[in-house]
Amino acid sequence: MVKHFSLVFVLTLAITSLNYGTQSANILGLFPSLSPSHLIISMSAAKVLAEQGHNVTVVTVLEPTITHRNINLIQIPLTKEEIKERSESIGAKQKNTSGHRLLSILNMADQMDSMLRKMKDVLKDKRVKDLYLNKGNHFDLVISGYFMNDYQLGFARKVNAPVIVLAPGPPNQMLNSLIGNPHDPVEKDKNMTFGQRLDSYITSLIYGIFVRQIDRLNREFYKELFTDDPSMPEYSEILKNTSLVFFCSHGASEGSIRPNVPAAIEIGGIQIKDKPDRLPKNLEEFLSNATDGAILLSLGSNVQGTHIKHDTVQKMFNVLSKLKQKVIWKWEDLENTPGKSDNILYSRWLPQDDILAHPNIKLFINHAGKGGITEAQYHGKPMLSLPVFGDQPSNAFAMVRNGFGLTLSLLTLEEAPFDQAIREILSNPQYSQKVAKFSSLYRDRPTSARESVIFWTDYIIRHNGAPHLQSPLVHMDFIAANNLDIYALFTAILVSIVLILKAVIQYIYAKLISKFNKATKVKKH
Ligand SMILES: *[C@@H]1O[C@H](CO)[C@@H](O)[C@H](O)[C@H]1NC(C)=O
Ligand SMILES: *[C@@H]1O[C@H](CO)[C@@H](O)[C@H](O)[C@H]1NC(C)=O
Ligand SMILES: *[C@@H]1O[C@H](CO)[C@@H](O)[C@H](O)[C@H]1NC(C)=O
Ligand SMILES: *[C@@H]1O[C@H](CO)[C@@H](O)[C@H](O)[C@H]1NC(C)=O
Ligand SMILES: *[C@@H]1O[C@H](CO)[C@@H](O)[C@H](O)[C@H]1NC(C)=O
Repeated sequence: MVKHFSLVFVLTLAITSLNYGTQSANILGLFPSLSPSHLIISMSAAKVLAEQGHNVTVVTVLEPTITHRNINLIQIPLTKEEIKERSESIGAKQKNTSGHRLLSILNMADQMDSMLRKMKDVLKDKRVKDLYLNKGNHFDLVISGYFMNDYQLGFARKVNAPVIVLAPGPPNQMLNSLIGNPHDPVEKDKNMTFGQRLDSYITSLIYGIFVRQIDRLNREFYKELFTDDPSMPEYSEILKNTSLVFFCSHGASEGSIRPNVPAAIEIGGIQIKDKPDRLPKNLEEFLSNATDGAILLSLGSNVQGTHIKHDTVQKMFNVLSKLKQKVIWKWEDLENTPGKSDNILYSRWLPQDDILAHPNIKLFINHAGKGGITEAQYHGKPMLSLPVFGDQPSNAFAMVRNGFGLTLSLLTLEEAPFDQAIREILSNPQYSQKVAKFSSLYRDRPTSARESVIFWTDYIIRHNGAPHLQSPLVHMDFIAANNLDIYALFTAILVSIVLILKAVIQYIYAKLISKFNKATKVKKH
């Protein structure tokens, strides 16, 4: 009986995989982002697909730390000058606080410009163009790594394949329009006052200026890259053909709950392994010796030790070297460490996800990058965030509001508050309890991030796109999408009624007056 049952089971499985399984497909991943944390997310998704037996070709600028034998890498690296320029610009941001909100948003557009230009040049490289010029190549799907680079969607058209956009963060103003995802210009919160909502709306308007600048750049790049081919459609048409967006986010972790259309698939935590890998021997030993617990200190992949002010580093060392906890400190220049101490281990590269999984880790000191916070939430580790720029301050703020830890500014770090914050998080159990509770929520989903990527990728390949899941808003103009013409009509009707009523009343009033006047005249006589 049991035997029969398992035979039936195996047969069913075989038949299902015949029907629904997608044979090894050729998938092209375009991941030119210059941000190492974006690349970790993109390559994690690519690896999941490669492990499924797909033939994945990826185009990158940076050298990926995650790879697989089924992944063919085409790397178009930065030149020496570009690397130097980039490091200097990141360094400058560590030492400079920006002024007004408007200025900082417009500044951001300026800084993006050179990055976006580099990413566009990648698509002009001979080896990348060969992907569509060489007729021997065939792709079943393009995955476009998102970094304000909508022009890249033209590449999918060039290789004649459906396209999935892979976004490193949650749904936002720029991406929502691509799939008709509802966008509320006011970030809602139960207790918001009118003033706060107005402020949120105005910020959103200012951000809209930035979005327009980026859009103009995208149009320009699209022309430059693709309009030598007369069969290529208008840029605005290209924007209407995205099958899905994979958002690296998780509804309950991104602040206020918002609705998503079916073409928005959340895969937050894709970079986290279901089961951690074994740690390198020195780390494993160091951590298992940490009877008083251990702290992981990593300020991310962009910021290097040398980017931080020297005396800030010294202050951090003074505090950390006096703790009884062991400290693993991500530090690149092992010749010049901040100082020697028995409880501190410096390492140039760290398997962060695997270290955070270790039970002896009691605190994660980070720069509030999205990736690091996600990993700490998954593993249920409290945090001390030292944000600097970009989305980091707001990530840190949200993390503190959720009760997962504390935050201090890296730019103005002083010994005493740094020490107090560390001791508070280590001694007060409320932080680890809150984040541990969240961790169990984060892991509890109908399908894991990995399973979602596998299912939806195969789905798009099986059906050669997903126009049946597309929101009609993608094809509607602003007026129709927002019912403005209907509101205008109703307003016009309302105004006409009021005007007519007013005229009628005036007419009746005038009649009455003249009757009254006549009557009084008659009386006088
Ligand atoms: C800091 O910002 C100000 C104003 O934006 C700028 O004038 C100055 O050059 C910046 N300093 C550094 C070190 O980048
Ligand atoms: C994988 O894809 C690349 C790029 O299209 C192609 O050159 C290669 O032949 C493919 N490999 C297999 C086994 O199909
Ligand atoms: C949209 O993608 C499909 C393949 O999924 C393709 O057949 C169609 O030509 C594309 N349309 C545009 C405007 O790119
Ligand atoms: C909103 O305000 C009420 C009463 O003022 C308070 O009890 C509640 O905790 C607040 N909710 C949030 C999310 O701040
Ligand atoms: C761990 O502790 C053992 C015994 O106390 C010691 O021999 C070993 O050197 C320690 N290892 C590290 C990496 O500190």
